[in-house]
Amino acid sequence: MTKDVPQTPSSSVPRHVAVIMDGNGRWARQRGKPRTAGHRAGVRSVRRIVRQAARRGVEVLTLFAFSQENWKRPEVEVKLLMQLFRLTLDREVKTLHKNGIRIRFIGDHAGFSDDLRAQMQKAEALTADNDGLVLVIAVGYGGQWDLLQAAQRLAAEGRPIDAENLSAALSTAEFPDPDLLIRTGGESRISNFMLWQLAYTELYFSPVLWPDFDDDAFAEAMAWYVGRERRYGRVPEAA
Ligand code: IPE
Ligand code: IPE
Ligand code: MG
Repeated sequence: MTKDVPQTPSSSVPRHVAVIMDGNGRWARQRGKPRTAGHRAGVRSVRRIVRQAARRGVEVLTLFAFSQENWKRPEVEVKLLMQLFRLTLDREVKTLHKNGIRIRFIGDHAGFSDDLRAQMQKAEALTADNDGLVLVIAVGYGGQWDLLQAAQRLAAEGRPIDAENLSAALSTAEFPDPDLLIRTGGESRISNFMLWQLAYTELYFSPVLWPDFDDDAFAEAMAWYVGRERRYGRVPEAA
């Protein structure tokens, strides 16, 4: 929700951190390895950032793992990414659950296999009552898809398309909007991530490739956030 947000200097810990995990392919190429090796190395960074976010008291961590446009990649890469996704869920969910983390998935999951969808639902159900960090995995996600599905749902139900209803129909309705967006990998673009929800998010672009994004890199991003003054279109308090 972007309405009624108080004008604040950012409190020291962002409630919601969203991450565009980019640069796996280049990381691998630099090492003369196939792109898939970069995706494997990226999983280690996922583990690290989940641990750090939980430790620092972040409420929601959203990780952009696979965009709708990523379906356009070569079939072998898409297959590997799906395999890796399944394997990682298999390996990690128990530990996440033990650590009190609640897992949620957002995106258009129609293209996923029944097995994978079932696995995702199982992880959500298992961790539904946990009260630690909420880990949101955006897979098959697109910001335009999210806005469209929300608008179409409201239209189908004959409800007015106003800001409140639209926010509440987005796949992210239950979470606060991101306070901090981190994109690794050196590109300064949103790549169809949360288009509505990022309206007043602080945007942090890091040149570090995702597999190299370590605890220090995350600490740097968090420290940068503390220095932002969030005005939401208003004038500074002292003015
Ligand atoms: C991000 O890394 C992972 C996904 C999009 C799934 P990339 O695979 O985009 O890596 P680069 O940007 O080609 O280096
Ligand atoms: C954005 O990375 C999507 C994810 C990290 C999941 P891409 O590599 O797909 O973005 P572009 O193609 O460089 O914009
Ligand atoms: Mg990329």
